[in-house]
Amino acid sequence: MKTENIEIFSHTFSIFHVLGAAMDKKRTIQDIITMKKSGEKISMLTAYDASFAGLIDAAGIDMVLVGDSLGNVLLGYNSTVPVTMEEMLHHSKAASRGIKQSLLVGDMPFMSYQVSESAAIANAGRFLKEAGCDAVKLEGGTEVCETVKAIVKAGIPVMGHIGLTPQTASQLGGYKVQGKDADSARRLLQSARDLEAAGAFSIVLECIPAQLSELITKTVAIPTIGIGAGKHCDGQVLVTHDMVGMFEKFIPSFVRQYANLAPQIKKAVAAYHEEVKNGIFPTEEHSFTMQIDIQNLLEE
Ligand code: KIV
Repeated sequence: MKTENIEIFSHTFSIFHVLGAAMDKKRTIQDIITMKKSGEKISMLTAYDASFAGLIDAAGIDMVLVGDSLGNVLLGYNSTVPVTMEEMLHHSKAASRGIKQSLLVGDMPFMSYQVSESAAIANAGRFLKEAGCDAVKLEGGTEVCETVKAIVKAGIPVMGHIGLTPQTASQLGGYKVQGKDADSARRLLQSARDLEAAGAFSIVLECIPAQLSELITKTVAIPTIGIGAGKHCDGQVLVTHDMVGMFEKFIPSFVRQYANLAPQIKKAVAAYHEEVKNGIFPTEEHSFTMQIDIQNLLEE
């Protein structure tokens, strides 16, 4: 091989080597924090089973959240309040089987971290030990910071969640934009500071004005992940079922639908139903055959 060819080959090889390594590499907490420092936006989506998690992971999404939103979009509850630890662990285990490279965050359900610090640590630990998650998320600001500290001290990375916190939506006056007046905006800013001081590695900002999320994002050194919080957050998260159009009950105004799968699923199911009823499906193409002499033996 000529010298210049060897150089081109080794250059190309090293680019593929680096790219390949970057694409296959499992995201770490440090990677997520570094993305904020380098100005790289962070992508996050929900998944509750291995097949969705696998598709999302393969698309290169940085973080996958097994959100307690599964109560609404999968389990048919009217809120996230009834979701249990066992339900969250069941779905987190499934999602983790589909993950190769995304950072997997398990959402702590209502009443799994409020009763006592020791119960909160034990429940958070189950997401890592039993379900294969890399971190947990819990809702609340300043008032949950002692709990966040205790969980982080036990070696479990914690993501905070402030603004509209669905587990306590009734106390917030329903599913409404939060932090619109000066007092509540100041409280949210303080909550973000306190969560950072308590050791949270990032914070979800849900349904707050874009100006407030910009201020919070500039104030804290940890990444902010927005949902209905405008473009200035360090990253964005959406409920996958909302953004692929699989949940028709309610579509929040901050969601962009990148696909509209529910009508396509209904159309496919209706076509199958018709074909089964009319004997059109299955055809020979979808059937197995046996040798004629064996068939004859059976018919003797
Ligand atoms: O449960 C969930 O899916 C969430 C996201 C909306 C952030 O908490």
